[in-house]
Parts: sequence; structure tokens; C-alpha cells
Amino acid sequence: MNFLSKRLSLGIFPTPIESMREVSKELGVNLFLKRDDLDEFLGSGNKVRKLEFLLYEAKNESCDVVLTAGGMQSNHCRATAYFSKRLGMDVELFLFGQSEMQGNLLIDKLLGANVHSITHEEYDHIMDVMSERANELKNSGKRPYIIPPGGSNATGLLGYAKMVEELKVWEERNTSFDYVVCATGTAGTIGGLELGKQIYEDDFKVLGINVTKINASQLEEKMKNLMKDFNTKYGTNFKLEVPKVVDGYVGQDYAVPSDEDFKVIREVALKEHVILDPVYTAKAFKGMEDLIKRGEIPQNSNVLFIHTGGTFGIFAFANQLKDYMEG
Ligand SMILES: Cc1ncc(COP(=O)(O)O)c(C=O)c1O
Repeated sequence: MNFLSKRLSLGIFPTPIESMREVSKELGVNLFLKRDDLDEFLGSGNKVRKLEFLLYEAKNESCDVVLTAGGMQSNHCRATAYFSKRLGMDVELFLFGQSEMQGNLLIDKLLGANVHSITHEEYDHIMDVMSERANELKNSGKRPYIIPPGGSNATGLLGYAKMVEELKVWEERNTSFDYVVCATGTAGTIGGLELGKQIYEDDFKVLGINVTKINASQLEEKMKNLMKDFNTKYGTNFKLEVPKVVDGYVGQDYAVPSDEDFKVIREVALKEHVILDPVYTAKAFKGMEDLIKRGEIPQNSNVLFIHTGGTFGIFAFANQLKDYMEG
């Protein structure tokens, strides 16, 4: 398993695991929070774990420019820009959508990332778009390294596979988790958890809450392909097990928070003094609460919710959030 050691040290690990006492009492489970939002000063969350392996590969291949893609306010793109620059590499970001110069986009620009504004249509075949640009860069003597959206490929899976080691250590000293729940976007986090379960022989159930417009079966298919790619790349034979992904929590659209999501952010801030983000973790938290209320996660279970970061995203919604703070 020497693929697990092919990484840089970018974040502060292990991240803490905290009990969510108030919410546990209300829901009748033992709810814990994995504070991956604390793994690095800019709150890069789940991206740091993936980038430790991806940027190791980039440096190992003597690359000098990193290309990746996402929405204008992508946490992944900002984290990639930050760490790539710190490691002495240039960065080219391919971002779709509109945004004011604030939040993650502001940081991308501050860091000197080269930002290409792209259409949704271009994003639909983003790997071709980035390959084309990589060829141009190669022709001008550069050594490009392409990271897919969300850092979710065979190498990126290793981030959350390795995180399971932290859970094993915690479980040996405390209690075992019955369920591990996370937001699911590009499926590298949940896919990595499933891989980690096999590597470290743990048996918690993994549940993903879909926060995207594609449906759960498409995400499950994607996870299967990621696992296949992993086996091909590393010559392993891990089972193509696919954790359950739950639909119904994206709301109007990806990255568009609903009233319910703002309410969850406010309630969790008041009860547990933890700030969820409006694009991923608030939606996933709501999904997890409903699974518990419906009995799909049984009473008295030990449940670990992963705070995958993105907290800075609340600043873009300050006006809407204000409505939940009055009275
Ligand atoms: C804060 C946050 N949480 C969760 C996710 C979803 O993780 P994944 O894309 O690995 O499914 C992302 C990124 O996509 C994210 O930025």
C-alpha cells in the first residue's frame, strides 16, 4: 500500500472529532462532527486531503503549472491555487458562472491565478478544454498537470481513503461509528471513504447526500468508475462497492441555498457553535437529520458527519442569512 505514503503534508491532521451534544439529544443519536473545516487556515476542508496526493504527483512529475476547473466560487479551485502557488507552481483555473470579485474568486486573483472564464457548455467537456490548453502550454515549454473538477480522480480518492486511518485510531480509543455521512459533489470524498474502509478494514456505513443536479445513480456510476480507475492505476483489486447516495437536498440548483438551508446554518450555529457552509454542508446536514427522523439511520446510532469546509461561502449570502437572525 505504498501509494498511501506518496503525499505532501499540507494540512493539520488528524482533525478533531467533536460531539454534537444538543443535536444528538434532539435527534436521539450520538452525533459527532469531523472538523475537516479546521484542517487549514483558509478552510479548504476536504480539498486539502485530496491535494496532498495530487500535488505530490505534480511535483514528482516536475510539473510547473496546475490546471483545474469549477464554479466561480469553487472551494476546490481556490485551494488548488493556494497550495500550488505555495509549492512554486503556476495555476490556471477554468471557472464557469458569474460572481462578484469576492470570496474564493477574490483569493484566486489575489494569489495571481490565471483565471479563464468559461461557459457551462465548455464545462460539460472540461477535460478536453483543459487538455487543449495543456498542449499549448507544453508547446511553450511548460509542464502542465491537470486536476479534474473537485480533485476527484484515482489519485484524489487517496485523500479520504487515508482519513479512515484517523477514524480507526479514534474508534480504538472511543466508540465505533455506525454511519459516516458527507456532502457529495464530485464523489471523490465519498469514494475515498469507501476505498479507505477496504484498506483499513472498517465497517461503518457511508452515506452521501447529493448536492448536485445529477442524480444519485449517476454519482454511484461515477464512484464505480473512480474505483475501477484506482485499481487500474495502482494495480489493486479493491471491490467496486458503492455507498448509498441520497437525492432530494440540492434544492433549486447546485450552489443555490434554500430557506431551509439558511435555517440549518443558523440552528447549528446557535446550538453547536459550528458554522456550516451554504453549498454543501448545510444541505447535507439537513439530509442527515431527515434520514435520522425517518429511521433510516436508527435511533442510538453513532453517526459521524464530516464538515468538509467551505465556510467562507456564507459571506456571499449575508443578506439572506440576516433574515434568520432577527427575533
Ligand atoms: C465544502 C465542500 N464540501 C463537500 C464537497 C463535495 O466533495 P466531493 O466533490 O468530493 O463529492 C465539496 C466539493 O465539491 C466542497 O467544496
